Amino acid sequence: MQRTTEVFAPASVGNAGIGFDIMGFALSAPGDVVVVRPGNRPGLRIVRITGDGGSLSLDPARNTAGLAALRLLEHVGACGLGIEMELHKRMPIGSGLGSSAASAVAGAFGINEYLGRPLEKRALLPFALEGEYLASGGMHADNVAPCLLGGFLLVRDHTTLDLHKLPVPAGLHATVMYPHVKVLTREAREILRPEVPMASFVRQTANLGAFIIGMYESDISLLSRSLEDNVIEPQRAGLIPHFHALKAAAMGAGALGCSISGSGPSVFALSAGPTIAGEVAEAMRRVMHDHGVPFDCFISTVNEEGAAPYSS
Ligand code: HSE
Repeated sequence: MQRTTEVFAPASVGNAGIGFDIMGFALSAPGDVVVVRPGNRPGLRIVRITGDGGSLSLDPARNTAGLAALRLLEHVGACGLGIEMELHKRMPIGSGLGSSAASAVAGAFGINEYLGRPLEKRALLPFALEGEYLASGGMHADNVAPCLLGGFLLVRDHTTLDLHKLPVPAGLHATVMYPHVKVLTREAREILRPEVPMASFVRQTANLGAFIIGMYESDISLLSRSLEDNVIEPQRAGLIPHFHALKAAAMGAGALGCSISGSGPSVFALSAGPTIAGEVAEAMRRVMHDHGVPFDCFISTVNEEGAAPYSS
């Protein structure tokens, strides 16, 4: 008989500015916790969800964690097992921090751990992506992949699991400001123009290439010059309260770059070390205080582990 299993899946910063839908990194906290234990009747049941304010479905087929778990159970031929699942949302929904990705990853990873790891961690990605698709309406792995596998990742193609972990310069820290407004990924995608002007495309690909070189060479100045999203950020900035003031404050405090985390409203800044990351946080907090916007602010290194067993 399987034993009760608890897992943690972290928040993540999708896009990381210039890598729309293809680049992202995992944070150490916050994140979601999933508990999996034997059930007394066949099939998967979600028996408890906390931290969602009642917004998430207990029906596994309508829940990102549940759907990812169901798809994995189907794949390994274990749908008939009686399993109970609890989902504890310990991060905000609709925050741009990969909340649905964290749930989907926790669902798939939790079931895999519970069953004694029939699949390698990396092979869980398609199941987690299905869960994420339910929430966001898009098959993009820029949150799911780093949440599952940890690190700062480039996703060349999520269908073939063509993922690449970038080296992270020593000391690199992220400051993440989450203003308490809700932006749904689905809606933030609908406002994007389907075409990119050629000049923006050229600039964006140059910046993405240069940013990756900066990561490989720990070239902080190159990272700073290239962390500039001129395609998506201008179209979404209006969804985020005081985005331009937040960005100016972060850059003024010494951040290497600052942009939108995922589809927003969270805003992230990268800094060369913890002291500057703290000063960036302070500068961004002042902006939110001045405008009376409630917020949470997180400082994190890049979480290299991703989803992991958890003990409460
Ligand atoms: N990359 C997605 C977007 C968000 O910006 O719409 C999360 O995967």
